[in-house]
Amino acid sequence: MVVKLDKIFDSTIKNVIFKNKSTLQSNYTPNVIPHRDKEIEQIAAILAPSLKGERPSNLFVYGKTGSGKTVSVQYVKEELLKRVKGSNGLKIEYLNCKLRKVSDTEYRILAEFIKKLGEDVPATGLPTDAVYNKFIEIIDKEKQLLILVLDEVDQAVKKISDSFLYNLTRLNSELGNAQICLVGISNDLRFLDNLDPRVRSSLSEEEIVFQSYNALQLQDILRERSEEAFHTNSVNEGVIEKCAAFAAREHGDARRALDLLRVAGEIAEREGDKKIGLKHIDLANSKIERDKILDVIESEPKQFQLTLLAMMNLLDKNEKIFTGDVYRTYQDLCKKTHTEILTQRRVSSIISEFDMLGLINAKNISRGTYGKTREIRSAIPKQIESQAKNILIESLSL
Ligand SMILES: Nc1ncnc2c1ncn2[C@@H]1O[C@H](COP(=O)(O)OP(=O)(O)OP(=O)(O)O)[C@@H](O)[C@H]1O
Ligand SMILES: [Mg+2]
Repeated sequence: MVVKLDKIFDSTIKNVIFKNKSTLQSNYTPNVIPHRDKEIEQIAAILAPSLKGERPSNLFVYGKTGSGKTVSVQYVKEELLKRVKGSNGLKIEYLNCKLRKVSDTEYRILAEFIKKLGEDVPATGLPTDAVYNKFIEIIDKEKQLLILVLDEVDQAVKKISDSFLYNLTRLNSELGNAQICLVGISNDLRFLDNLDPRVRSSLSEEEIVFQSYNALQLQDILRERSEEAFHTNSVNEGVIEKCAAFAAREHGDARRALDLLRVAGEIAEREGDKKIGLKHIDLANSKIERDKILDVIESEPKQFQLTLLAMMNLLDKNEKIFTGDVYRTYQDLCKKTHTEILTQRRVSSIISEFDMLGLINAKNISRGTYGKTREIRSAIPKQIESQAKNILIESLSL
């Protein structure tokens, strides 16, 4: 035992594999961004007039997840700010609308921008109109150009409706001194189609599409990042290629590729290996898949968690279960947690959603004169079953 612990502690302390792990984490801004020159130049060209104090066209950037949208826009933002001379009145404020504290009301989005501009509004309490007026008052105090970057803007629209984008795009007509330019970013490729046409045309005066990376491009990205992250010779041949191939299958997601490499490094380190090998990539891939499932479970609404826990409790004792049993167990759990009991039909549709998410397998079967039911089996990997249950129990305060 002691020998084994020695091995674990030694390899971590000695850092035989990682030189600087943080360079593989998602909040790290890389120095070079391969295969995005064209997109970065396009963004820069569209926003360049801001350096002369002219309002650029509003810009909408979209592309699948992990295609480098955020990193490219942030890069251009930094480069623009470097070139601002004296007080030429250019401000660029970035907001990720996916953050929980931000995205659920128009009020909070505005309050967050107001805070970024160095002023304050009460966390709640004012009518939305009043927050708008405050926002206008703050920015219109001086002649300035404000570029507002709304990353993952679809998340906010989903929760609030597109009226808030409409309001933002109309702000310029109420401003005397200041001007606003909006940059929206989204990985929902159909986002624009579902917007009110007026909002759509003003938000996407300019549009840039980020194509997904292919496996070769992902290899280049991984190589650049791994030079900073790992000691020389700590990555075996074929490792970068395998990470890139896995991530290319996930529609070319660079985040997935970097996560794979980082987690593989952690696993290798934990096992006391001196190099990352192909087997570590496989292990990392399964770990990431499992973590993804746990994340989904944790973020489900309460009624979904109750239904899932009912199924898991029953599946502990039976290999397959039926909808009626689930509903009875679900009702018991609702009583225990003092939660409203939904109809069986509603719970049935929640079960279908879990089937679609791949957490269970449900099969319709006919019971002759007794009508139809569904036979349910678990699809949650065995290794994380108890972790999944603990998450549910904790989140439901059981
Ligand atoms: N060309 C690139 N070079 C280096 N790193 C990159 C490149 N493209 C993406 N990355 C890295 O991959 C990760 C995902 O990129 P980014 O956050 O920009 O994706 P995104 O398109 O904004 O995805 P999402 O829609 O999910 O927000 C980040 O860690 C980023 O640093
Ligand atoms: Mg992003």
